Amino acid sequence: MMASGHTVLFSADVISRSVRDLALSIDRDLRNSRVVVITVLKGAVMFSCDLVRAMETETEMVFLSASSYSDGFTPDETLRLQQETELDVAGRDVLIVDDIIDTGRTLTELAGLIQLQQPRSISTVALVNKTSRRAAAAEPTYSGLEIGEEFIYGYGLDWDERYRDLPFIALANP
Ligand code: IMP
Ligand code: MG
Repeated sequence: MMASGHTVLFSADVISRSVRDLALSIDRDLRNSRVVVITVLKGAVMFSCDLVRAMETETEMVFLSASSYSDGFTPDETLRLQQETELDVAGRDVLIVDDIIDTGRTLTELAGLIQLQQPRSISTVALVNKTSRRAAAAEPTYSGLEIGEEFIYGYGLDWDERYRDLPFIALANP
């Protein structure tokens, strides 16, 4: 995908530096484990694939879909969860990977559901931290880039299902 017509907020270089920093922090904490990486579809796919390749820590990858957005802008009431395989993380170190933390509901509810399986540890990582709209008292264990209340897209994040394929993150309606 081409850069023309987009207002670049975080370039591919900025993103990859952030991913490397996050990988270093995660490696420091989980180095001797084989971590179950739970990737929240679809938005976190690009981030997660880059993150596990930047990590030294051994991983197993699980994908599940959790969507709290009915359209491009409005959060709806219920979190929808779907997973493609049986999830069994009892006694395991779990890392939940999402693209962006906004209200915090997705990561909080997901962590709550996974906690029921009594993992050894749960940590969460979001590439982008949208600090202004946090509803649940939920901070990710790790986060990379900070923004206010802007709507962003690219690098996995969609604007009404478009632009996930951009290698950078852009600002909608600048
Ligand atoms: P939360 O549950 O409110 O934290 O919402 C997190 C989810 O909302 C993310 O996984 C994204 O799919 C979506 N989201 C929040 N802000 C944005 C944005 O600026 N652009 C694209 N998706 C967003
Ligand atoms: Mg999403």
